[in-house]
Amino acid sequence: MRKLVHRPRRLRRTAALRNLVRETNLGPHDFILPLFVSEKISARRAISSMPGVEQFAPNEIAAEAARAAAAGLQAVLLFGIPREKDEAASGAYAEKGVVQQAIRAIKAASPELLVITDVCLCEYMSHGHCGVTRIDGDHFHVLNDESVELLVKTSLSHAAAGADLVAPSDMMDGRIGAIRGALDAAGYDQTGIMSYAAKFASAFYGPFREAAESPPQFGDRRGYQMDPANAAEALREVALDVAEGADIVLVKPALPYLDILWRVRERFGLTTAAYHVSGEYAMVKAAAEKGWLDERQAVLEIMTGLKRAGADLIITYWAKELAEWTRR
Ligand code: PBG
Repeated sequence: MRKLVHRPRRLRRTAALRNLVRETNLGPHDFILPLFVSEKISARRAISSMPGVEQFAPNEIAAEAARAAAAGLQAVLLFGIPREKDEAASGAYAEKGVVQQAIRAIKAASPELLVITDVCLCEYMSHGHCGVTRIDGDHFHVLNDESVELLVKTSLSHAAAGADLVAPSDMMDGRIGAIRGALDAAGYDQTGIMSYAAKFASAFYGPFREAAESPPQFGDRRGYQMDPANAAEALREVALDVAEGADIVLVKPALPYLDILWRVRERFGLTTAAYHVSGEYAMVKAAAEKGWLDERQAVLEIMTGLKRAGADLIITYWAKELAEWTRR
């Protein structure tokens, strides 16, 4: 007699069964679109290192944000390029600065769309660093507390213009607590903070520096951004930002840091975002343009991987296309 043995096996996957058992599902609500608004142009301008991404003129930005909302996105992340930079980054916190005006225009046109603003000084500082610097001979220092003071002013001015969340991307110490305290004291207790909590010093920011016109004029950012080799340190950074009052924590870049994303989401259980950055975008675009891979399939696979690894939200230059590709 033949003995019946149970042999583990998988059911053959039909499309319906695949849909039924899929663990990770993407939808338009997962994605945030970065937008660049520049005071230096009067009409949209392509960014050569990021095919498909553009800078928008101040009078165009509300319409672009409205297109993002119409595509089904919940939020945009706004970056500004001022007409002029100076040593005090004064454009960053000017009442009529490029970002402040853009927030007002977007909110007037699309009140439901969440406006998140990048809070950093690099686009507004003549030297292109993310904080106030002092030069001693061959060395330069980024002055932490002086920088935090300007980041607080910038955050307050964004909140006053109507930003829903501010997103400090500078990596100075103590900025989340300082910004939270100042927002609360000024009556902006409903303005949230999305903290770039674990931001690594990365080669993949290259194309962004063309988009935001913010390359450092001397030195590099390794003094204040994190060493890609350090995971425990990333978790300590995130712990501080959580304790200081961050509403959302961000890991950046995305693909080389899936382990960090996973651990941050598991350990803190706070809304966790991944920033799929400019260089990660550019490399897929370049390969797709050469016909070496299928853009849509590759992008959906990447985004699924990020979400599976713990990302509740993904900031990506493909957000509008993804909203269309993932709509049901
Ligand atoms: C700093 C900032 C950077 C990015 C977002 N905010 C650049 C940097 O730290 O050098 C990079 C985003 C990207 O590469 O897409 N304001």
